[in-house]
Amino acid sequence: MTLATLSNKRIIVGIAGGIAAYKSAELVRRLKEQGAEVRVVMTEAAQSFITPLTLQAVSGNPVHMDLLDPAAEAAMGHIELARWADLVLIAPATADLMARMAAGQGNDLLTTLCLATEAPICLAPAMNQAMWRDASTQHNATVLLERGIQCFGPAEGEQACGDIGPGRMLEPTQLADSCAQQFQSEKLTGKHVVITAGPTQEAIDPVRYISNHSSGKMGFALAEAAVAAGAKVTLIAGPVTLATPDRVVRVDVISAMDMYQATHQVIPDADIFIACAAVADYRPEQVADHKLKKDPTVAEDEMIIRLVRNPDIVASVASQPSKPFVVGFAAETQDIINYAKDKLEHKNLDMIIANNVADTTVGFNSDDNAVTVISREVEEPFPPMAKTLLARKLIDFISHAVNNQH
Ligand code: C5P
Repeated sequence: MTLATLSNKRIIVGIAGGIAAYKSAELVRRLKEQGAEVRVVMTEAAQSFITPLTLQAVSGNPVHMDLLDPAAEAAMGHIELARWADLVLIAPATADLMARMAAGQGNDLLTTLCLATEAPICLAPAMNQAMWRDASTQHNATVLLERGIQCFGPAEGEQACGDIGPGRMLEPTQLADSCAQQFQSEKLTGKHVVITAGPTQEAIDPVRYISNHSSGKMGFALAEAAVAAGAKVTLIAGPVTLATPDRVVRVDVISAMDMYQATHQVIPDADIFIACAAVADYRPEQVADHKLKKDPTVAEDEMIIRLVRNPDIVASVASQPSKPFVVGFAAETQDIINYAKDKLEHKNLDMIIANNVADTTVGFNSDDNAVTVISREVEEPFPPMAKTLLARKLIDFISHAVNNQH
């Protein structure tokens, strides 16, 4: 299933003081419908046309209006806002706002934010047709375009003042679609990526468990790289001490059975599944209710814990009729490529990432990793490098394969 194309995107809607501001509330709703998180910045004049309360209600966030109010700046200052945004859309953009921007002014929150942001800025001009045609406005629009600031519209037609001509703001749905198009070039835009990471813990009793040394670093790095490539990411994490990457939806689990259930809850909505977790193959058949005690009356040198097989999560996803693109990992100590190829076939995967865990400089707890990526078509080695860098290369590789399917 492909998601709305503004999924996971952060958009600032700037509102200047023009009559088309009454449509800005609907614009915010359309952007949110497509998955964006929206924050609204209003000029003082805009507040004469539509109330901040309306925009707060539709955006679900406080509205930003003041540059020089210490309380407002402390809550989320202009630099923070500028960094937060993936895109700034000013709708309506009035002749005055365009003139101030073209002159490089920063005399209110909205213009200052535009100077401070590195995000793309788009304008939806809205004004009387004569004002739009005026040489100054046309000059300002050209200057702004040369600086990489785009105009969406204006459209031609009947105007609030009764004139007919160019200067109408584009409709909110058109503006939302134009925003979405700005992100089309990202490799995983509109895709939902589900990643498992870390170890699992299989309880023996309330205080003991069976587990392994997986740190979760590779899976977390993949989650971060997938977000950077434009994806919506769900990270199903076993017990690890890593911080959640920005914009990632994290589901914490303990055991393999928990991970199995959490995975299948989100899989119907996934486009790509990357099984990076080191899932325990077995779990104790019985979990004791109380801490197991040594029996002082018997001199026992042995204790036997009977284990039963855990379900293979990645194979269970790959066996589904409408499965996502499935990527597995193969941690091996010998004959790595052949074992990985076997696993690719047996588990019906689309791709497998093989690494040599006998080499202690890479893999499990290390910050570095070296892998070979194998699909039915290709076999591509990646030399040792930081897991964060490798994650970006792997996400590139995976998205290329996904985008070139059938
Ligand atoms: O068979 P093996 O454990 O070596 O396979 C490793 C791959 O299978 C990894 O992608 C791992 O996340 C996945 N796996 C799983 N569920 C299991 C065991 C492994 O998803 N119970």
